[in-house]
Amino acid sequence: MWNPWFIALYLLWSGVFAILEQQEKPQFPEPLNEEGFNTQLKAGLHVVEFYSPNCHHCKALAPTWEKTWETFYEEGKALHIAFSQVNCLLSGDLCAKEKIGYFPTIRLYGPSGVIKNFPDDAKRSMENLIDFARREANDPSNSEIVDIKSTSIQLSGDKFNQLLDGRGSQPILVSFWPSKAMRSTDDDMEFENCEDCRPFQRTWRVLSSRLLSSSISTGHVNCESSAKLCEELGFDDLVKIRNHSYERLPRVALIIPGRKVNNLFIYESKFSTSVSDYEDFATRVTRNSEAPFISSSDVKQIAERDFQLSASSAFASPPQNLHIVFAYNPKTVVQEDFAVLDHLVEPLSNIPNAYLYKSTDDMKQTSRSNLDSLYKIMNSNLDGPEKTIKEEFIDLNVMDQNPTFYVFRDGDRIPHVFPGYSTTEVRDVDRIVTWIESLSLPFMNEVSTSNFKELLNFIPEEYSGLAIQLIDTSSPVLFEKSSRFLEKFMLAGYDYEDFRMGYVVNVTSAERAKKSKKMSDLKGKGASAKKRIQAAIQDVPHVDDNKVVLGYIDISKSSNTLSNMGLAHRGDTYKAGDVIIINKVTKFVYEHNAAGDVLTSESSSKIKNALISALLPKATPSPPRISGHLLSTPFGDSFRFLDSLHQFGFFGYLGLLSVVLFSYKILRFYSRSKVNRKYKAKRNTLGILGKSNQKKLRD
Ligand SMILES: *[C@@H]1O[C@H](CO)[C@@H](O)[C@H](O)[C@H]1NC(C)=O
Ligand SMILES: *[C@@H]1O[C@H](CO)[C@@H](O)[C@H](O)[C@H]1NC(C)=O
Repeated sequence: MWNPWFIALYLLWSGVFAILEQQEKPQFPEPLNEEGFNTQLKAGLHVVEFYSPNCHHCKALAPTWEKTWETFYEEGKALHIAFSQVNCLLSGDLCAKEKIGYFPTIRLYGPSGVIKNFPDDAKRSMENLIDFARREANDPSNSEIVDIKSTSIQLSGDKFNQLLDGRGSQPILVSFWPSKAMRSTDDDMEFENCEDCRPFQRTWRVLSSRLLSSSISTGHVNCESSAKLCEELGFDDLVKIRNHSYERLPRVALIIPGRKVNNLFIYESKFSTSVSDYEDFATRVTRNSEAPFISSSDVKQIAERDFQLSASSAFASPPQNLHIVFAYNPKTVVQEDFAVLDHLVEPLSNIPNAYLYKSTDDMKQTSRSNLDSLYKIMNSNLDGPEKTIKEEFIDLNVMDQNPTFYVFRDGDRIPHVFPGYSTTEVRDVDRIVTWIESLSLPFMNEVSTSNFKELLNFIPEEYSGLAIQLIDTSSPVLFEKSSRFLEKFMLAGYDYEDFRMGYVVNVTSAERAKKSKKMSDLKGKGASAKKRIQAAIQDVPHVDDNKVVLGYIDISKSSNTLSNMGLAHRGDTYKAGDVIIINKVTKFVYEHNAAGDVLTSESSSKIKNALISALLPKATPSPPRISGHLLSTPFGDSFRFLDSLHQFGFFGYLGLLSVVLFSYKILRFYSRSKVNRKYKAKRNTLGILGKSNQKKLRD
């Protein structure tokens, strides 16, 4: 029956197939030897794993690494970044030269050498490795070939103190190293307990050349030889190793020339080897310390810079800056009013993208005209009755106080005025900074696994919602569609904001009415003057809550983003256009409208209504009920009713326990009093539990 011809044909076919398959599917490569390392790394970027075949962690990582290589190969080719390996048992010299201290070590290399380490605190998962590669491939400073030498000058303690004394001629960015005698930061150095020092040498070299164009010079301090200075600055660990299992990191500070106080700014954000982080810090602090003037028409342009997906690279979203404007009247301002600006530079240096300005233009008028243009857009794009500006909201929030602060965000037409009614408040740095921080999120946020928690926890007392638009940028057609969805989504956000302003006005008027009633009651009762004054000075609290944070997720970037966030409630049925609303206070997730349809930005008004039902049901007499589920609930579907208990944490369970105990007691009572069996059978614990929980769910 087994015809030899048939067998031969079969063998031939499978041979051809194997060859075809081999040609189509690139093979997982052998680790690089020294020669391969030197030639291959000349082109593009490489994420290199240095491993030893005997190391336990390397063996555990091997399947993940291979899968990552396979998954990312094609995309990596397009982005000019590859995953490579070096076997340190076979290439010992190379690993010694690269100063590999432990296995596995994962590093990013560019044509001019090591750029950075894969973050220590990140799990070495496929998701994170690919995320890392994508991000680095999109950082233009990584592919910069730097043959140039560092222009950073070595600073002694004395020299540094002279600069601090205001005797410099330019702003200078200074780095602090755990070293004794490094002359140039390009020196081939060994640093003890500082895994990131060598990659940071490259960062510093690129920075020193980049900053030249901004007229900022660079310097460096050897902390082991300038111990006193480094200790005074709080960089003790760079002076001496006190703990060998503790990794040290270089530190950075900026000195502004021409003044003796408020002229030293320490980089306090998380350490990074990314050039742009320090470039942003140095240029922004330099600019903010001057607080340049901004005009009314510039501010208008800022507000009209609508968020747009960038077509060139789906990964890099356009910068969305925060512009803080100190608005004053030159006729009435006094010199002391400006002091607050100096004190703001330091806290603002650690809020990314925050720029400080002054203006003598009428910012109240400008805010008003921004809002006018917003209502024009809403009225020409949204169905339903014409919307009008909530005048009372403007009266409540835009004060005549002068000077005062305004915040304008790129692409945000809603006015933000500092809620300070007196001169003391407008000079209260902590209060101003807290207020600016509350506006520090961009108008439109790219939501990722790394910032999801942060967005979720961002001031829930003020922002009770997070609304996420799903987009897909994997093809030009989908990209176009996604841009339209985002536009409608933003409109829905504005529409909700209009509703919310009405709510704030109503709450505040109710509070005021209560207060004036109390006052007249006191008067009627003939209360003492003291009591009446006390009641009068009791401020009506400034409410401005239940705002929503807007964000988007590109579902084409990674298949598990949603599930990693605990959001993939509907499995893999999510598509571009869908909207997910999270109530950040109750942690409930809403994906359907009252009619049970999946929420999508096809209709702005449906999204707005869902936002109201999810975040502000108390503001409508009979809000349409929409049903949600708890974010990453630990319960399966059959126990979904427990969600509403879990939402209340400990007290929820305490409540459940008391219901159970109570029911048990009742049962005992009934059985003791020998009630007839038929009657007893009607009341079982489940019935009572079920009922009480059903009620809770609807609450
Ligand atoms: C040394 O540093 C490690 C890592 O930060 C820490 O866990 C440990 O407690 C430190 N030991 C001492 C003696 O400070
Ligand atoms: C605020 O009050 C007005 C007048 O009573 C009412 O028409 C409006 O619906 C209320 N708005 C909100 C959001 O509560």
